[in-house]
Amino acid sequence: KIVPVVMAGGKGTRLWPLSRATAAKQFIRLIGDKTLFQGTLDRVADTEAYEPPLVITNDEFRFLVAEQAREIGVQLSGIVLEPEARNTAAAIAVAAFIIGRDFGDHAVMQILPSDHEIIADDTYARCVDTAAEAARQGKIVTFGIAPTEPATGYGYIEMGKALAGGAHAVKRFVEKPQAENAQKMLEAGNHFWNSGMFMCTAGQMLAELREHAPEVLAAVEEAVAEAATDLDFMRLGAAGFAKSPSISIDYAVMEKTPNVAVVPAPITWSDLGSWDAIWKLGNPDADGNVVAGNATLVNTRNSLVMSRNAHLAVQGMDGVAVIASEDAVYVGRLDESQEVGNLVKTLAAKK
Ligand code: GDD
Ligand code: MG
Repeated sequence: KIVPVVMAGGKGTRLWPLSRATAAKQFIRLIGDKTLFQGTLDRVADTEAYEPPLVITNDEFRFLVAEQAREIGVQLSGIVLEPEARNTAAAIAVAAFIIGRDFGDHAVMQILPSDHEIIADDTYARCVDTAAEAARQGKIVTFGIAPTEPATGYGYIEMGKALAGGAHAVKRFVEKPQAENAQKMLEAGNHFWNSGMFMCTAGQMLAELREHAPEVLAAVEEAVAEAATDLDFMRLGAAGFAKSPSISIDYAVMEKTPNVAVVPAPITWSDLGSWDAIWKLGNPDADGNVVAGNATLVNTRNSLVMSRNAHLAVQGMDGVAVIASEDAVYVGRLDESQEVGNLVKTLAAKK
């Protein structure tokens, strides 16, 4: 069986004000009646194919994780709490240690971001099978999404020759390229976006970390050894974990190892990282608008209007996001959605 690892410690600041320090993007209801975290658990709920998922998160989110899993009746194998956020390389190292210890080094892990919208249809299931096979052969397997624009927030994967079993070798992995380089790779064809999901054996991931990010591995090893159990939670040792560099798995391992493979994945996938992505996925009406909650639109087009509570009245606008949470309102151009993270930094600096 595949062992799912759900990474649920990120903040997702580009969806301010709906996502906050206390309620990150993965735990809020954006569209539909489940949160993205719950949707992620649903995709690995088949107990024939999957072991119960392991969730790696932090202290602030621990009750959200437990509650939201309970709400949809998913049994977790554990909830690991990071004393502080050290990015995804450390989170994945933790998972590889625990799974290697509990299931053996040959266990295949599926590492999942908790904040994506994915449709788990037959195509998706086939891609997972192909990836699991390549993982068993010692690859770190990525899922390749056909790029549609020169986005700079993703990893880019240059596809190499076909491997036995349907996956492909990877010539190059470039995390978050500059705009110019993204444009070049888009035009070259033969490149995919990295979906953010990975499959590999626990042992292979540990070997990659040992080679390419030994400081992360050493820190995490110490943190796991010092870990304490607290109710349903496993609290990593703070002194050890603090020694880990804060680096994402993409920079720490994917860009460096020759063992990456990619499974081209023609699946419905959205990273929902910004308001324009939510707008696209929300099925704009005839005027191009997506509306959620209490709102009236007059002479307004191509806009996203969401309210948690207050009645929003929007007039004479084109291509904007108007987002009202319980206590804050954001108004901005949809084509500037990628910049909301910077806005949040400005807001944080004012406090
Ligand atoms: N436990 C834990 N601890 N989880 C974390 C941490 C952490 O410190 N930091 C981030 N995460 C979780 C997030 O909640 C998210 O589900 C996932 O890890 C990925 O982190 P992001 O911060 O959202 O990464 P990204 O979107 O910038 O980039 C990644 O995803 C892209 C696709 O959406 C990369 O893998 C890119 O290559 C990829 O294209
Ligand atoms: Mg992301």
